[in-house]
Amino acid sequence: MIYPQPFSGKRNLIGILGGGQLGRMLALAGYPLGLRFRFLEPSPDSPGGQMAEHIVAPYDDPEGLRRFTAGLTVATYEFENVSVAAAHHISSRTALYPPPAALAASQERLVEKTLFHKLEIPVPSFYAIDSSDSLKSAVEKVGLPSVLKTRRFGYDGKGQKVLRTSEDVGTAWEELGGKPLILERFVSFDREVSLIAVRSRTGETAFYPLVENHHRDGILRLSLAPAPDLLPTLQAQAELFANKILEELDYVGVLAIEFFQQGDRLLANEMAPRVHNSGHWTIEGSETSQFENHLRAILGMPLGSTRSVGLSAMVNLIGDLPRVDSVLKIPGAHLHLYGKEPRPGRKIGHVTIRSDSEADLQLRLAEMHELVRAEP
Ligand SMILES: Nc1ncnc2c1ncn2[C@@H]1O[C@H](COP(=O)(O)OP(=O)(O)O)[C@@H](O)[C@H]1O
Ligand SMILES: [Mg+2]
Repeated sequence: MIYPQPFSGKRNLIGILGGGQLGRMLALAGYPLGLRFRFLEPSPDSPGGQMAEHIVAPYDDPEGLRRFTAGLTVATYEFENVSVAAAHHISSRTALYPPPAALAASQERLVEKTLFHKLEIPVPSFYAIDSSDSLKSAVEKVGLPSVLKTRRFGYDGKGQKVLRTSEDVGTAWEELGGKPLILERFVSFDREVSLIAVRSRTGETAFYPLVENHHRDGILRLSLAPAPDLLPTLQAQAELFANKILEELDYVGVLAIEFFQQGDRLLANEMAPRVHNSGHWTIEGSETSQFENHLRAILGMPLGSTRSVGLSAMVNLIGDLPRVDSVLKIPGAHLHLYGKEPRPGRKIGHVTIRSDSEADLQLRLAEMHELVRAEP
């Protein structure tokens, strides 16, 4: 058996690098299974640290890492900018999933797109950019509009710029230049969808249905699950691509992949080696949540069913908190607050609305949108 019997007296201790809301929701999913949690997170007040043992130290601090890894059953992470060196250090002391190779691939957009390309997963055409000249010649090949992105540390649309005119090319280089960049063809997609996949230490895999995602200002606002009018062939395509990545990286845990849909075709945009914002709906909208399945996977336990329970709409709460009583009045609305101070552009919570009928879901979602729009 891979895991000590979780329901025996000896309880499993899960270490999580990062104390954000994803870690908090992992812990919330694990308590019913009798699991205990420990966070390593430099910030003294964090969504995860509020609810479990919390080691306050930088991720690369040797003493912090020693205290973090002592006595763990298994370690995992909830954000992908954990340094690969720290990941290797941890995996020399305790089991760490997803594997450090997945971190390395997802941290760098050029490495990531090259991996997709090698696995014959379609991607928008892309070029490595390291100088103003290489940008100009890549723009000639890709054409305008195109998207210039930093290769590392981009999130929520930060560190990227859409180039529409030749003037944009010059200003983008001033803004983003000096760091390794990637230029991508601008995809005029029909919609954005994402797949949450999970693979256990035993090799068992499971997939949630594709979800339709809506972004504003680069931040995810709304996910509809399952994606409306989802054709089985599109789901099969996404699962085929996910399987290739899971196998290639000998992956363990939840993996999220973002795609652009054009007609009946998917182009991979990026992946995240962790539980993902577009999978939050699974807490109420699926037989087993992404958080519980991530824990099951890293412990080598059987995976839970990913069958959907009706239809879900997940609305992110960004910057400001709408009136809590008004949210709770909406039938089928499930409020999740992360214990964070409201601040512009900050994800402070989400609401999942669940319903058994499409018409009903749309009504409830319209009510929810009124509340979010009412924010100053
Ligand atoms: N090549 C592209 N063509 C069209 N839109 C894009 C492209 N790349 C990114 N975008 C838009 O920008 C959003 C954020 O880009 P993404 O690469 O996912 O970065 P992040 O790490 O910030 O999520 C995407 O969800 C999509 O809406
Ligand atoms: Mg993205």
